[in-house]
Amino acid sequence: MDKRQKLINKRQQSKQGGGLDKIESQHSKGKLTARERIELLLDDGSFEEIDAFVKHRSYDFGMEKIHYPGDGVVTGYGTVNGRLIFVFSQDFTVFGGSLSETHAEKICKIMDMAMKNGAPVIGLNDSGGARIQEGVVSLGGYADIFYRNTLASGVIPQISVIMGPCAGGAVYSPAITDYIIMVEKTSYMFVTGPNVVKTVTNEEVSSEDLGGASVHGIKSGVSHINAKNELDAINNLKKLLSYIPQNCEENTPNYDYNLLPDETRNELIEIVPQNPNQPYDIREVINGTIDSDSFYEIHKNFAENIVVGFARLAGRSIGIVANQPVFLAGVLDVKSSQKAARFVRFCDAFNIPLLVFEDVPGFLPGTDQEWNGIITNGAKLLYAFCEATVPRVTVITRKAYGGAYDVMNSKHIGADLNFAWPTAEIAVMGAKGAAEIIFKREISEANDKVKALKQKEDEYGGIFANPYRAAERGFIDEVILPEETRYKLIKAFKMLENKVDNRPRKKHGNIPL
Ligand code: HXC
Repeated sequence: MDKRQKLINKRQQSKQGGGLDKIESQHSKGKLTARERIELLLDDGSFEEIDAFVKHRSYDFGMEKIHYPGDGVVTGYGTVNGRLIFVFSQDFTVFGGSLSETHAEKICKIMDMAMKNGAPVIGLNDSGGARIQEGVVSLGGYADIFYRNTLASGVIPQISVIMGPCAGGAVYSPAITDYIIMVEKTSYMFVTGPNVVKTVTNEEVSSEDLGGASVHGIKSGVSHINAKNELDAINNLKKLLSYIPQNCEENTPNYDYNLLPDETRNELIEIVPQNPNQPYDIREVINGTIDSDSFYEIHKNFAENIVVGFARLAGRSIGIVANQPVFLAGVLDVKSSQKAARFVRFCDAFNIPLLVFEDVPGFLPGTDQEWNGIITNGAKLLYAFCEATVPRVTVITRKAYGGAYDVMNSKHIGADLNFAWPTAEIAVMGAKGAAEIIFKREISEANDKVKALKQKEDEYGGIFANPYRAAERGFIDEVILPEETRYKLIKAFKMLENKVDNRPRKKHGNIPL
C-alpha cells in the first residue's frame, strides 16, 4: 500500500474509537463521544491530536489481540476563545475508557506540556477506572497522574468535567484539580460503588444516590458546578475559563471598560432591611455592584450560607466571597468555611483579586459543628484569607460579629481596604446577647426585667451597632453609602492593581486541613 495512504487509513481508524456499535451505545445513553466533546469545547479547527496511534502493552487475558489506536483516551491541545488549552478526553467506547499504563502515559504527556507552556489542563472524564486486565501498572499510571496534578496545582488551572463513571481511586485526580463540573444523571463519582457499599455497610443505594451530580453538588461539595447535560457542561467550562488566567504568572483576562460619568447604583440603597433580623439576598448586592450579568457562581447549591463566584468589575475579573443572610442568617459553619477557603486559595494562587461582602452573625454553635471540627474548618478560612496576597477589599453591609468579623477578610488579617455601609454593626456579638451577659446582674435585680434588658440592649446597640467605633480605630477605611459601592470598589481595585505583598520565605505553610 502506498505509504501516504497507509497513514491516511491509520488516521481514519484511530478516529473510530471502539467502533460504530459502541458509539451508538454511547449516544443511546445521552452521552457524546470523546471526540465530539473535544469538538464542542475547542475553537473550530484548533485541535491538534497527540499520540493517536498509541497502543496498550498488555498481554494477559488475550489483550494482545485487541487493540484500538489511542487506547481509550484522546489527547492534545487547541484553543478556547483563542486561548491555548491542553485536553484529554476519555473514550468510553474503548474498554470503557478504562485507564491502562499507556492511557495514563498519554495524559501525563499533555500535563507535562501544559506545565512547560503555562496553559490550563482540561480533563473530560468518562471511565470505568483502572484497566482491570493490567493490574498494578494501571494503578501506577493513576499515581503518575496524581503526582502531576499536585505539582501543577497552583501553577496552571486544572479543571475536570465528569461525563460518565468516575470510580475508585480514579476520583482523586479530579479531586486534586481546581474545579469539578458534573453532568446531571449521566455522571457519578464514588470511592466504592453500590455493590461494595452493600457488602460492607449493608446499605442499599443506587449509583445516582451514592455519587450522582446532585449528591456532590448539594451534600458533599465535591462538584463545584452541576450541568444539565454535556453541552451545558462544556459551556460552563468555557465560561469558567473566561475569568481565569493561563497560569500563576499571568493576570486574568480583562475587558476594556470606560468609566461612566456616574457609576452610582441606587438599587443598592434599599436592599438591607430596617429590621436587622430580616434576611435579604446577598446576590442582589453582588449583582447591583458588579458589571451587569457578570456573576458566575461556584458551588451554588452547596453550603448556601456563603456565596462564592467570579465576576467582573469594570471589565476586570474578581473573586467574590459573601455571607448569605437568606440561609442560616449567613453564619459560618464547617461546610461554608471549607467552601470559601478553597475558593480564596484558588483566587490567590491565580492572581484574582478578592472582594468580600460581609453580613455574618458569627460561627454556628452546637455539638454537630464542634464534633465536626468547626475549629479546624473555620481556621481554614481564616488561614486562607491571612495568606492571600492578591488585592483584597471588604464591604460590611450589616453584621460583623465576633470571630467571624476577624475571619471575613478584616483589616487585621491583611485586607487592603475595608468599607462599611451605615447599616454595619461591628461588635463582639448582637446587642441583646451582649446585654444579657454584661448586664446580667442589673437585669436580674430590676423590677421590670424585660424593660431593663431592652434598655441595656439599646445602650450596647447605640455604642456598637454601627460602623463608627471601628472607623475611629481605622479598622474600617471608609464608611460609604450603598449607592457609592461600585464606584468606590472600581477605584479601590484600580489603586491595588500593582500591589506587591512579600511574605517570609518558607517551604510551605501548614494550613489546618
Ligand atoms: C477494563 C472495562 C472496565 C475496566 C469497563 N470495561 N470497565 N474494561 N477495565 N475497569 C469495559 C467492559 O468490560 C465493557 O467491555 C465496556 O468497558 C463497557 O462496560 P459495560 O460494563 O458494558 O458498561 P456499563 O454497563 O455502562 O457499565 C459501566 C461501568 C462498569 C459501571 C463502569 O463497566 C463497571 O462497573 N466497570 C468496572 C468498574 C471498576 O470496578 N473499576 C475498577 C475501579 S478500581 P465490552 O468489551 O464488553 O464492551 C480503580 C482503582 C483505581 O479504578 C485506583 C487508583 C489509585
